[in-house]
Amino acid sequence: MPIDHVLKLYSESFRSPYLHYGFWDEPDKVNIDTLTLNDMVAAQQRYIEHLASFIPEDVNNILDVGAGIGGNSSFLLSKGFSVEALSPDDYQEKVFAEKYNGEVPFYRTKFEDFKPQKQYDLVLESESACYIQIEPGWQVAQKTIRKGGYLLASDYFLHHNDGSGDWHIKASHDEKTYLEKAKEYGFELIREYDQTDNTMPTLDGAKAFMDRFIFPTVEFSSNYLDKNHPLVLKVLKKAFGKKLESKINQFSLLESSDFKKYKRYMIYLFKKI
Ligand SMILES: C[S@@+](CC[C@H](N)C(=O)[O-])C[C@H]1O[C@@H](n2cnc3c(N)ncnc32)[C@H](O)[C@@H]1O
Repeated sequence: MPIDHVLKLYSESFRSPYLHYGFWDEPDKVNIDTLTLNDMVAAQQRYIEHLASFIPEDVNNILDVGAGIGGNSSFLLSKGFSVEALSPDDYQEKVFAEKYNGEVPFYRTKFEDFKPQKQYDLVLESESACYIQIEPGWQVAQKTIRKGGYLLASDYFLHHNDGSGDWHIKASHDEKTYLEKAKEYGFELIREYDQTDNTMPTLDGAKAFMDRFIFPTVEFSSNYLDKNHPLVLKVLKKAFGKKLESKINQFSLLESSDFKKYKRYMIYLFKKI
């Protein structure tokens, strides 16, 4: 399976072992203008602490599905859980091999294609549920989790679709369908928590960063080329203009007000009955 270069870019630029949004205890008190990368990484650490508080007492072994670059797995190991990890990504497999030297078995596969050799007390899907096709995902969860075991999902779900084709709509599962399918495959929702407000400062911070550094740099480079190498600019625009426009449109994903219009960032704890 190829490498997800966007996730690789996050991991290399943030230098954090996490690839999720982070959790802000007091989102109203966060000053976006003074936010640092360290604050973001601290919020990511807080996210897994908060998420782990949803793990029931009778859980010993966990399959970390869509494990990223191992931050959550490390946290869970440090809390005494036995952890195995899964992701389809070649780069992430390499990171796990270097980090854990076999201590955390790693399955390089999509969850939908996973053939479990045993059953787990809990499957964790931390910001990976939206990558996994809903129905095949629940089918495999049914085989992977023991009777009375759990699936803990923390991810954003679509609560409103106005048919506009907005980027926010494209990149997430419909919440109602996800919950209906859970029931159909024998999973009862036993706890839920809406962490939308607790996650939004990360988007606001990323947008502020883009506005301050990236967009002015792009504008500067374009002006420079226009003045000094107009032919080069023309060729670049012809070659990449459309692609660039589509990429820039994707930055609308950083608008927290649009996020909230369409999505909710939920924690769902399901029990297999
Ligand atoms: C946003 S990252 C979250 C990483 C990590 N769970 C965390 O919280 O930091 C999404 C993860 O899901 C993985 N993923 C993508 N498609 C998947 C699939 N079909 N099955 C399982 N994992 C998948 C990605 O490779 C990545 O590891």
